[in-house]
Amino acid sequence: MKFLQLNEFGTPHQVVSVEEEAAPGAPAAQEVQVKMLACPINPAEMLLMSGRYASKPDVPYRLGIEGAGEVVAVGDGVSHLKPGDRVMSLGRQNWAELINFSVNHVVKVPDNADPLQLGMLKVNPATAWLMLTGYVQLQPENWLIQNAANSGVGHAIIQLARAEGWKTVNVVRRPWLIDPLKEQGADVVIIDGDDLAERVAEETGNADIKLAIDAVAGASTRRLAESCGDGAVVVNYGFLSGNPCEMTPEQTVFRDMSLRGFWLSKFMGSMERSEIDKLYATVGGRVADGTVHAPVEATYTLDQAVEALEHAAREGRKGKILFTPNGPVT
Ligand SMILES: NC(=O)c1ccc[n+]([C@@H]2O[C@H](COP(=O)([O-])OP(=O)(O)OC[C@H]3O[C@@H](n4cnc5c(N)ncnc54)[C@H](OP(=O)(O)O)[C@@H]3O)[C@@H](O)[C@H]2O)c1
Repeated sequence: MKFLQLNEFGTPHQVVSVEEEAAPGAPAAQEVQVKMLACPINPAEMLLMSGRYASKPDVPYRLGIEGAGEVVAVGDGVSHLKPGDRVMSLGRQNWAELINFSVNHVVKVPDNADPLQLGMLKVNPATAWLMLTGYVQLQPENWLIQNAANSGVGHAIIQLARAEGWKTVNVVRRPWLIDPLKEQGADVVIIDGDDLAERVAEETGNADIKLAIDAVAGASTRRLAESCGDGAVVVNYGFLSGNPCEMTPEQTVFRDMSLRGFWLSKFMGSMERSEIDKLYATVGGRVADGTVHAPVEATYTLDQAVEALEHAAREGRKGKILFTPNGPVT
């Protein structure tokens, strides 16, 4: 049974190895055995491997922040899951061929959905949904603005907002993303720049934007805020630029704007299991009906870890990179 291990902190493809151990035995009571089908390589995992994430685990450390798979065996006392069911892991350390999970650490997901999309369900669609609904009560036709709009989270925001009737301004840094994002349902797509606020006002007819969603930080946070109306909430959930979020006193003091931070791990830590099930029933349903769909650029086996991690580190990708630990999936 193969799994991926972090041996030290550094450049991801140089510090990870493929390890092999005996397959886990039959699942114990209240456990299920899962054949992992799809696990994405997320920016958070790259930060973790390079030692720049929220916490540094002791190494050697099994990797894999998220993933989904198929139940192949169930232990005593498990009645709501059976072999053949698809599940998503709530825990970490998912980059492995076969895992025995406690039933408390998996969520049943639709069997008819694309396994690659299910593999990406835990983090990005949930993050998108919670940020869209947790800070500002949007009404149909209301606008929101986001940057890094071509990311996995960005796609989910566009698709979920469109399904709810909310309009999106999407800030990107590459012109060739404009048409593909519009095809996904983006209302406005704009290249980031110093005159962002003027161009947003022009494209939206001076919309009073109350929600900004920021994955980039640095000056991009300030430019999003400049594009919003008084009292707007800027939700920062990433720091892709590597710089601290900028907001001016004019924005916070005179225009009553606020900067909030969102971290899924912390947010979910405060949720009851019933709320977690409800969240994944909502976003899982949106994946199963095709509303939420993240582009995929490539999939790799665990043996191809070096190539996969090098690929995931490249800028200008057209989609996510995933591991399919048990070979290609359909
Ligand atoms: N706080 C949370 O709970 C939480 C949850 C999920 C994700 N996140 C964060 O959300 C962000 C997106 O994650 P993801 O999985 O959706 O990403 P992803 O699909 O792997 O895509 C990465 C995106 O980042 C963009 N990017 C990279 N560096 C940038 C920069 N300096 N300025 C502007 N854009 C830049 C890339 O744009 P190009 O195509 O132009 O290269 C690409 O769109 C990451 O920062 C991740 O850590 C946070």
